[in-house]
Amino acid sequence: MHIVFASSECVPFVKTGGLADVVGALPPELVKLGHQVTVYLPFYRQIRMEFPEPNYKIRSITIPFQFYNRFVGVVDGGKIDGVQFYFLECPELFDRESLYAVPEGDYPDNWERFGLFSRAVIEASKQLGVPQVFHVHDWQSAMVSVYLRTLYYFDPVFQKAGTVITIHNAAYQGRFDPQTTERLLFPWDMFTPEKVEHYDSFNFLKGGLVYSDFLTTVSRKYADEIKTPEFGESLEGIFQTRASDLSGILNGVDYAMWNPATDQHIAAQYTPENLAGKTECRMDLLRLFGLEEIAPTTPILGIVSRFATQKGFDLLSEIAPQLEKRDLVLLAIGTGEIYYEDFFRDLAERYPRQVSVKITYDETLAHKVEAGSDIFLMPSRYEPCGLNQIYSLKYGTVPVVRATGGLDDTIEEWDRKTGTGTGFKFDSLLPEDFLAAIDRALTVFKDKKTWQKIMRNGMAKSHNWSGPAKEYSAIYERVAKLRSK
Ligand code: ADP
Ligand code: GLC
Repeated sequence: MHIVFASSECVPFVKTGGLADVVGALPPELVKLGHQVTVYLPFYRQIRMEFPEPNYKIRSITIPFQFYNRFVGVVDGGKIDGVQFYFLECPELFDRESLYAVPEGDYPDNWERFGLFSRAVIEASKQLGVPQVFHVHDWQSAMVSVYLRTLYYFDPVFQKAGTVITIHNAAYQGRFDPQTTERLLFPWDMFTPEKVEHYDSFNFLKGGLVYSDFLTTVSRKYADEIKTPEFGESLEGIFQTRASDLSGILNGVDYAMWNPATDQHIAAQYTPENLAGKTECRMDLLRLFGLEEIAPTTPILGIVSRFATQKGFDLLSEIAPQLEKRDLVLLAIGTGEIYYEDFFRDLAERYPRQVSVKITYDETLAHKVEAGSDIFLMPSRYEPCGLNQIYSLKYGTVPVVRATGGLDDTIEEWDRKTGTGTGFKFDSLLPEDFLAAIDRALTVFKDKKTWQKIMRNGMAKSHNWSGPAKEYSAIYERVAKLRSK
């Protein structure tokens, strides 16, 4: 089957979060199953720099808007692991400093940038190959599904093309003012609550949920959670209505990139059988964070994260005074909302002997934190899947997580009686419960033998992509069958 992926991020080209990891890893796995996969991405400045002499597959596609046209080139990004990449070029919209936002806020023309991107994916595939299924991701490409079933409704070449949308995060929806309807050339009768309207906004994600043939999200638990007001981000009604076409498929991880036995980013490689390299990684990490005097018996708590409300660091701020009293160090790397960047900087200033923070986005450092830490913290308010806790398992870095979404699906509470479990979990949003989970971890940490048992339990887990790829494949079959009727 031919599957077209439309996404706003993809490793190794451009990444701000887990979406890029997923769109980078799932397509090659689908190729292994015998599918043909094409991935479309915007030709951002970050990608353009890697392709200074672009090889145009199509020179110009006209994308009409209400009062003007824009012109999109299609650049051949080549094949990697059997997956074909195409970049959609529109310098006015994509040759910019960032993907979605600058510190002052989101780009105000995001409706145009991702509306154009979605429509150009359809137009490009018309010339380069119409797939059996378009697989779109989050609000940025959700309009592919909307266009196909509205403005392109009568186009015979798309009548058998199915659509699947994956929700990586229901909180980001792409909400724009009502005028977006006519700016994107849609008839006003689409601006209703049954279609794209949501509380008087034009909502890209909602459109994708209404018009796609099938909906998936990135863990089973999150698939349940988003049907409730607590997690549905006001879209719970639609998730309930479409429950029979919605499934949760847990993300895999790419162990070619995230495995301490082969990882070239870290100071020394290690395996469950020989953990010696992890001590070297620890020393390397402490040196990088300026805390080399820390005793070998002191546990390192690591954080690698986007700094956003989602990630639950308010809980951390509430327990910081108690953590100071414990024998531990906290090392964090991340970037994002100014509020949390300041919070982490402030924490490091207040507790210089225990906390060190780097406000940066750094791939190598992310690997080093995974490898050099003993405990990994993810107190997320919600977490559709979460990848870092899965990486942590493989690195023998024991996760302490809130039992939500994919965190709950991937981490099992340690049970001394049975010797099973891979980490420590807490349910509520109460700081004392977070602290209690950390304390349970710190207590076991003192007993080296038991701790290594937990580490090895985690390291033995495999979350590779072959299982999830088969689940996606089954959904593509289902959707293609539905459309071929
Ligand atoms: P989300 O997509 O919500 O940010 P995930 O856990 O799914 O959360 O994925 C985050 C991805 O981004 C991981 O691959 C993680 O290593 C990476 N990442 C997050 N922050 C940083 C950072 N500051 N530097 C390097 N990588 C980061
Ligand atoms: C989103 C979610 C994260 C998930 C990632 C990849 O960014 O916040 O939980 O792992 O997408 O699906």
